[in-house]
Amino acid sequence: MERIVIFDTTLRDGEQSPGASFTVKEKLQVARQLEKLGVDVIEAGFPASSSGDFEAVKNIAQEVRGPIIAGLARAVLSDVEAAAKALEGIKKSRIHVFVGTSPIHMRHQLRKSPQEVFQMAVKAVEAAKGYASQVEFSPMDATRSNKNFLYQILEAVIEKGAGVINIPDTVGYSTPEEFGCLIGDIMKKVPNIKEAVVSVHCHDDLGMATANSLSAIKCGARQIECSINGIGERAGNTPLEEVVMALRTRKDFFGFFTGVHTEEIYRTSRLVSRLAGIPVQPNKAVVGQNAFRHQSGIHQDGVLKEATTFEIMTPSSIGLEEGELVLGKLSGRHAFRERLRKLGFELKDSELETAFRAFKKLAEKKKEVFDEDLVFIVEEKTLQIPEVYFLDYIHTVTGNKILPTATVRIRKNDKVFQEAACGDGPIDAAYKAIDRITGLKLTLADYSLRSVTGGKDALGEVMVKVEEKGNLVTGRGVSTDIIEASAKAYLNAINRLIYRGERLNEREAGKIKAGS
Ligand code: KIV
Ligand code: ZN
Repeated sequence: MERIVIFDTTLRDGEQSPGASFTVKEKLQVARQLEKLGVDVIEAGFPASSSGDFEAVKNIAQEVRGPIIAGLARAVLSDVEAAAKALEGIKKSRIHVFVGTSPIHMRHQLRKSPQEVFQMAVKAVEAAKGYASQVEFSPMDATRSNKNFLYQILEAVIEKGAGVINIPDTVGYSTPEEFGCLIGDIMKKVPNIKEAVVSVHCHDDLGMATANSLSAIKCGARQIECSINGIGERAGNTPLEEVVMALRTRKDFFGFFTGVHTEEIYRTSRLVSRLAGIPVQPNKAVVGQNAFRHQSGIHQDGVLKEATTFEIMTPSSIGLEEGELVLGKLSGRHAFRERLRKLGFELKDSELETAFRAFKKLAEKKKEVFDEDLVFIVEEKTLQIPEVYFLDYIHTVTGNKILPTATVRIRKNDKVFQEAACGDGPIDAAYKAIDRITGLKLTLADYSLRSVTGGKDALGEVMVKVEEKGNLVTGRGVSTDIIEASAKAYLNAINRLIYRGERLNEREAGKIKAGS
């Protein structure tokens, strides 16, 4: 069986999802989890696009040594140099050069002739070759490009040292049969194609990204570009969990394997959903809440008798364990630390102490504390951006015959602020009171609530998207009380806005530079 290379672009194309933005620290956290998951390549970002991206790629390159670390670059020298600088000093680096090759892109976006685009690609690949151990080239919008032009440009960049040729279905336009044929034609018509690995990068605009990617490997592609939960530009990218589990579940049909440790899939999916602020739809293949739930009596009966009657994969194959009852309010630090180790968390003493206190608080409120609750506590307490505003107290009065009101007390450094407001409901009232305290003019663009585990005393997780002057940020809050979780999520989004703004100011003042 041959291996399919898994190229993860959660931190690059994935971050292009509307509203998703990771801090540098969060990107590092995701990259470490991707390493545990066993992906072959991590596309860590687009270094020339912003100093934040530059910093993230650089940090990941220095800290995550298992997978190849890739940085994206337009086919221009300054982009290639920024990627080179971010990846400097590491052994397994890849510069991913791209340029639009379709008539639509060349004419309307680049405003360049095919000859000019050809030259740009060749020069950029040649330059990249001098800086990184590997070079990948993508003719953007390949599926709407002229095939002969595509063959010529691919041949030329392979000659200049591109070891990976990636064929993007940039606008999710292709169909499985057509895309497979395109890959097959490239394998036949590009004379030196055997000197490169052929990769595919599909978007899901018509819901065919997974099918297109799988069809491509049947026709010669050996690398799939994908993202966790399928996040990415517009309708997103090929979801990693879908292609990996399809290859594993149907190895009889495909005859390929990947290096992915599938038992890490669920944990990675949850982490990315939380940090990106993008909930996973319940019926999402592989990682959705309902993916292993059986509703009808006939199905339940079948699964109880023999799981394979209605399950083609086991929940444990993606790391979805039965909600295990773990700790109670009498559990000590040692048991707590051991349990977290088993869940994959190695905390510093100070972080452990903070998480332990939060666990005790939760255990007082909640009879049963499950693994998922612990994951939430740890991530909330150890991964957060600086808490400029901190919720100290919230009191709401509501009912169907009274005007809902909220009183909110917030700490900012050593100062305490209190405000009250009325609203359409208690959450609206709380958000208005918070707005009065912060003085910010915010628009709530999205709000979602889900319960972390079952039961009436379950933790509620609120995710919000908040907009201020065109800046969209996400926020997340967790509590057994959904109004408190809502207020925490809103403050988390505000803290993120402040964090972003501060970094922007520091950059403007020259304290942080791209490249430093
Ligand atoms: O969709 C696309 O074409 C891309 C390229 C940069 C590979 O994301
Ligand atoms: Zn893309």
